[in-house]
Parts: sequence; structure tokens; C-alpha cells
Amino acid sequence: MYKNVIRPMLFLIGPEKVHHLVFRILQMKGKVPGFQSLVKAIFQYQNPKLERELFGIRFKNPVGLAAGFDKDAKLIDELSCFGFGFIEIGTLTPKAQPGNEQPRLFRLPADQALINRMGFNNGGAIDAVERLKKRKSDVIVGGNIGKNKTTPNENAFDDYAQCFEALYNHVDYFVVNVSSPNTPGLRELQEKEPLKKLMQHVIELSKSKRVYKPVLLKIAPDLNQTQLDDIVEILIQTSTDGVIATNTTISRADLQTPKSEIEKIGNGGLSGKPLTKRSNEVIKYLRSKLGKNFPIIGVGGIMTPQDAIEKLEAGADLIQLYTGFIYEGPGVVKRILKSIIKFKEN
Ligand SMILES: Cc1cc2nc3c(=O)[nH]c(=O)nc-3n(C[C@H](O)[C@H](O)[C@H](O)COP(=O)(O)O)c2cc1C
Repeated sequence: MYKNVIRPMLFLIGPEKVHHLVFRILQMKGKVPGFQSLVKAIFQYQNPKLERELFGIRFKNPVGLAAGFDKDAKLIDELSCFGFGFIEIGTLTPKAQPGNEQPRLFRLPADQALINRMGFNNGGAIDAVERLKKRKSDVIVGGNIGKNKTTPNENAFDDYAQCFEALYNHVDYFVVNVSSPNTPGLRELQEKEPLKKLMQHVIELSKSKRVYKPVLLKIAPDLNQTQLDDIVEILIQTSTDGVIATNTTISRADLQTPKSEIEKIGNGGLSGKPLTKRSNEVIKYLRSKLGKNFPIIGVGGIMTPQDAIEKLEAGADLIQLYTGFIYEGPGVVKRILKSIIKFKEN
């Protein structure tokens, strides 16, 4: 139904317009009595065998919605009805910012992919808090945090700290995002010394609280082996609670979409099917270096239940998706959950 009827209609409209349209529909329908129960009855799938405990948090299931979809925490209650075990909001920055000029989100249907250069468009951490206070769902929420475009890298600490403080009482775990390709200079924070200091800083903040909240790091798929080795060292030295691999890629290798079209689109992060293989390689490498107990959240190109199983086999404890949700529709969550049960039983 989604792929044959709904998706072709949605894909007639520009991708960012569709995003806002779907948000408005869900916001309106979410308030209609019985709507959320109906959505839950159709899409949710519960089974105690899906429960996971990671960095001190109990997840109802291991399938999450990746950062970027609900940056401003506008639809936590509605999105939780689709069966996600956790939802990551953000990337949030201290101050609201408009992001890059439009168009900044592009579909590559021949590749089941998206290219985006949104540039952390968001309403700011404080605004998100007001919405988080009103949420009713008990779904686990991660707070993905970053820095404003106008903040120079040498002051980035302050931005991460401000977001941490604002969100502390309202999210279950934090993600330090230094891997988006769309904020100039941000990825420089992935270099060894600045990253180590940044992680130490955020973790110290969390330790200073009465209740410690886990702090994770989200990395890019474009790091080479030496850079991944540095990441591993930092994760261990700073006692980071987990790693999210991966963000979108700047690579344009092996695409079906004509080169001229890709060139016309220009810069941005590529997500979806073309990312699956590289994301899995990074996860496998991290698992081999970090040992079997280090929490890894696998994300990048999960389009089908088979892709989800491959992520788990690569070494992910939990998984997230974004582009697969767009191309496959909300039913993909339940299909993945069912396949995980089968995978566990075999
Ligand atoms: C339109 C769009 C916006 C995104 N925004 C963010 C973001 O703000 N922060 C972040 O950490 N990741 C962001 N991501 C990356 C996703 O969270 C995810 O890591 C990536 O898309 C790979 O997963 P996928 O192939 O399932 O989409 C964004 C992705 C897309 C497509």
C-alpha cells in the first residue's frame, strides 16, 4: 500500500515540502481521539524477546528513529506509535538557526537514497525542551547535540555544554554529533585532540549531575582506518558510553543516478542504500577493536529487514533508520522487528 499508492503520491511533491506536510498531518491527526490507538494497533509490535538493556537504559526494542527526522521534538508521541524503541531528536544547537538555503534535500529514487545539506535547521534546544515537557509517550528519547554554524570551533565546547544543560532533564541519553558534513568545519572536531577534549568535557558535565546520563559519539562513515583507530582510543580513554555509526557520507561512489544529476545536486550527505556497505564495514571494524561489550548503535542504509539483520551481524546492539522510513514507509519498523525475532530464534 505505502510503496504502490502513498509513496508515488508523496514523491510528486518536493522532499522538504512532503516532510512538513507529513508532520502537519500527523500533528492534526494525532489529536483526533482514537487515531494514535489505531496507528499503534496497525504498526506496533511488542515482544519481550525484543527488549534490550544498554548503557543502563531499557529499550522496548532495538529499532530507533535516527537523528534529523524530528529535530525539534515535535512529534515524539505520534512517531512512537509507529513502533520505534527509541527516537533521537536533534541535532539541536543552542540558538535557533535556519539551516542552509533551499533546496537542500534531494531524492535519488534509482539509488533508494537521499542527499541532504540541511545544515542543522532547528528551533534551538530551549524550544525543544518546552515540547519535551509536554510529551506523553514513555519512548526512550536521545538528545543529539551540535554547535551553531556561527560558533567557531574553538568555542564549540560552550555550545555542546549549553545544549546538554538545557536538555539534561528531558532526554534519556546524549549524542555528541561531530559528523555532519553540512556545517562548515564541524568534522574537524572529529580529529583526535579536539574530540578527546570535547568528549571529556561533556562526560564531565554528566558526571557532575546527581544522575549520570549516558553520552554517545556519532561518527562519519568517511573516516579512514587511522582515524577510526583514533576514535576507538578516544572512546575507551574517555569512557564514552557508546558510539553511533554512521552519519551520512560525502562519497558519491557506485550510484545509479546519472553523474550529471548528482553534480547538479551538489554538496551534502548521502544516506540510504548506497551507505549500507560502508556503514557495516565501519561497525564491523569498531566491534573488532572495541570488544563485544561496547555499545554500538548501527545506522546507515537499513532499507529492509535483511539490512537490519546484517547491521546486527556486523556488531550493532541497536539500530536506527531514517531514509528507509521514507522509502519503505512506516510498516518497515514492524517487519524489521519480526525478522529480528526470527533471527534470534535461528
Ligand atoms: C534529511 C536528513 C537530515 C539529517 N539530519 C541529521 C542531524 O541533524 N543529525 C544527525 O546526527 N544526523 C542526521 N542525519 C543522518 C541520519 O541520522 C543517519 O545517520 C543517516 O541518514 C544514515 O541513515 P539512513 O541511511 O537510515 O538514512 C540526517 C539524515 C537525513 C536524510
